Amino acid sequence: MQEEKVSLSGVIRFFRGSQLLGLVKHDGTETISELSELCEVNIPTNCTSGTCGTCMVTLNSGIVTLPDELPPGLDSDLIENMARLSCIGIPSGDVDIEVRPPL
Ligand code: FES
Repeated sequence: MQEEKVSLSGVIRFFRGSQLLGLVKHDGTETISELSELCEVNIPTNCTSGTCGTCMVTLNSGIVTLPDELPPGLDSDLIENMARLSCIGIPSGDVDIEVRPPL
């Protein structure tokens, strides 16, 4: 039986509405903020620690894992609306991000 390898790497794409702003390959170790800089997509940041919510984006598709304990910049209502924080969010596999917050 062949062992299935779970790959965390993939491509992250950044959109504003239907406009593709940029994309970059990732290996599942860098934050959304770091990856947006690599492809010159501007996502504002402030605290860079999950506290202020400045870097909030919307997860259109894919997986961005959340910490077990939610940071001050996120609550469960926001998460239900697919909000993620760029400064602490690490994509896993292929991920599409809307650079605006959900609300
Ligand atoms: S920059 Fe403050 S929560 Fe990300």
